Amino acid sequence: FNTIDDLDLDGKVVLTRVDVNVPVENGQVTDATRIEKIVETVKDIQAKGGIPVLLAHFDRPKGQRVESMSLKIVVPALEKALGQHVKFSDEAIGGPAKRAVADLKRGDVLLLENTRFYPGEETNDATFAASIAALGQVYVNDAFSAAHRAHASTEGIARLLPAAAGRLMEAELKALDAALGSPQRPVVAVVGGAKVSTKLDLLGNLIEKVDHLIIGGGMANTFLVAQGIEVGKSLAERDMAGTAREIIEKAKGAGCTIHLPVDVVVAREFKAGAENATVAANACPEDAMILDAGPATVAKIREVFAQSRTLIWNGPLGAFEIAPFDAATNAAAQEAARLTREGKLISVAGGGDTVAALNKAGVSGDFTFISTAGGAFLEWMEGKDLPGVLALQKR
Ligand code: 3PG
Repeated sequence: FNTIDDLDLDGKVVLTRVDVNVPVENGQVTDATRIEKIVETVKDIQAKGGIPVLLAHFDRPKGQRVESMSLKIVVPALEKALGQHVKFSDEAIGGPAKRAVADLKRGDVLLLENTRFYPGEETNDATFAASIAALGQVYVNDAFSAAHRAHASTEGIARLLPAAAGRLMEAELKALDAALGSPQRPVVAVVGGAKVSTKLDLLGNLIEKVDHLIIGGGMANTFLVAQGIEVGKSLAERDMAGTAREIIEKAKGAGCTIHLPVDVVVAREFKAGAENATVAANACPEDAMILDAGPATVAKIREVFAQSRTLIWNGPLGAFEIAPFDAATNAAAQEAARLTREGKLISVAGGGDTVAALNKAGVSGDFTFISTAGGAFLEWMEGKDLPGVLALQKR
């Protein structure tokens, strides 16, 4: 695919798809990470003489104008990140949008209203895509985290204008390729989270591609059940035990070693500081639940990390939101961070909960790459082609 360096941007209006779908509370952006990550692209477009017109969605208004989902809300955070005034258009297409674009000078940045206010966005309607495309001369997609959606502003428009990947899109694709596409081996994947049922495709794809698969979180309980182990009141999908057994069998055939917890931290209550005990993985009391992996499991994880060259991480190992059940996640994250700092490991992580857990462990700055994507990261881990990325490929 093309990058910003491949297109002539001088004096052109560059329709730039970004993902500024950030968390907001009481009208304030509470985490501006996604906004900060698009700064390089916007600046580089300006440095090449282009005028960035930002296209983005916010939340899920389902094709209607919902005032509480107006992108106006991100303007102050965007101005702070860019260090300049950001113009805003109440419409993403039509006369008002055209006039807002016509008023732009070099050095300006314009943000258009939420593309999801228009029904044609999510249906990838050709007429709607053409109406956005009509506003500019070039298209840059910097929204890897929205690339799993085949929408007009992520997919349709890329077929109508000269198109390129922005810097963040480039960095995401490069990091993900280094983790799973053509990685340095051995590769270890850490997959956690609550449910096996939501990560079946992901596990199926990973066992074909990685050398070690460490399973943690609630989904590890389902794997324990699959081996005939009682897990008391733990979260587990008992109806998925057969599927878990199949995954274990397939992994053997594919040369992937699956690592399950060997010891666990159990408690009778799910609350911060609850009285707890560490027991062998097959010794969860009937009236207790597993809330974290234990220290022997962490020691095993360290060993696997030490043997590996590449780590890909999605999902926490325990109930990381509440101490002390964040211990295994924190310890494993810190070990990954240390090995990365020492140049021994390439570490890539993604997914909403995962990034929150790594931030909480204070190690996100040490990972080789942390994806800004949630759903798109998961679909990519499932081995799926992302429509927004496919549309950028040279034709
Ligand atoms: C995200 O937050 O993962 C992206 O912005 C995509 O949002 P969506 O799940 O509403 O399409």
